[in-house]
Amino acid sequence: MKTYKIAAIPGDGIGGEVIAAGVEVLNALAAREGSFKFDFTHYDWGTDYYKKHGIMMPADGNDQIRHSDAIFFGAVGAPDVPDHITLWGLRLAICQGFDQYANVRPIRILPGIESPLRNATDKNLDWVIVRENSEGEYAGVGGRAHRGHPEEVATDVAMFTRTGVARIMRFAFALARSRPRKFLTVVTKSNAQRHAMVMWDEIALEVSKEFSDVKWDKMLVDAMTMRMVMRPETLDTIVATNLHADILSDLAAALGGSLGIAPTANLNPERKYPSMFEPIHGSAFDIVGKGIANPLGTFWTATMMLDHLGEKAGSARLMRAIERVTADKSLHTPDLGGKAKTVAVTKAVIEAVVGDNR
Ligand code: IPM
Ligand code: MG
Repeated sequence: MKTYKIAAIPGDGIGGEVIAAGVEVLNALAAREGSFKFDFTHYDWGTDYYKKHGIMMPADGNDQIRHSDAIFFGAVGAPDVPDHITLWGLRLAICQGFDQYANVRPIRILPGIESPLRNATDKNLDWVIVRENSEGEYAGVGGRAHRGHPEEVATDVAMFTRTGVARIMRFAFALARSRPRKFLTVVTKSNAQRHAMVMWDEIALEVSKEFSDVKWDKMLVDAMTMRMVMRPETLDTIVATNLHADILSDLAAALGGSLGIAPTANLNPERKYPSMFEPIHGSAFDIVGKGIANPLGTFWTATMMLDHLGEKAGSARLMRAIERVTADKSLHTPDLGGKAKTVAVTKAVIEAVVGDNR
């Protein structure tokens, strides 16, 4: 029987609650499928670890998880430690160390979930956002000098490379090709950012020639926010820079009905390194320990992990179970306007997985 080695990193806040639920669901799914199982190794890295050791993860952290088949990640960030420390020390250290340059964020309105957009349904809002995840505005290039003096300066340089742009464009065009509509929207801001964004556009055009069966268009990021709200049905696959997609994906998650259900994958498409799968919602310290964290973002994330592992049937079964549960409003957690607890949602998803006879 195939065994997948998964590095589970719950991290901070509700990360522990949702990853525990995710592990339970994945084990139940594996038992249901019968053809594979999971071997989870848990790592206690995160802000508590930082408070004890002064670092978010051990110096050889990435080496410890390098040979996993995938990384299952909860959340990072705590109210009492600056975010740039916790993020760069763990999540971004993994993303960059493992060259997970393609961040994939599907958005769809699941059954029973209401979008704040009037008339939005799973028929007219079904997107996947591809976020460049290794460079651009979040490359970490920049500096700060003359701290505290009036002449203090600080820069964050948006750094774009031909290699980096070409590979994310290729990834996005290929993903668009794999979806029924075969349609890609390239988000840009080349009217104002006249160097890197112009190169971004040029490379999009070049790469598009390798994908003559994919239709595509180009959209300025500001106008894109309007199009997402006003004409959601005109979008399918979307590619954008690190910063632009960061912002657009929060808007998208909100339009999808809740940040609590949105999943994401940080992929190293060449599979030279493990890829990382995480719910979008973050550590949510305001609800820690209340047992009301929505585990659906983690379950949806788990379906992306299963896809990546090649377990398409298992992924589809888990997705059907998730949709069966979202359709039942009595199983909605508070972020969806309900009263359900994490354990009840988890139990219901497991029952739906076990009872799914397709
Ligand atoms: C996200 C988050 C992170 C990001 C933050 C917490 C750094 O907003 O996954 O979108 O921008 O990468
Ligand atoms: Mg974000």
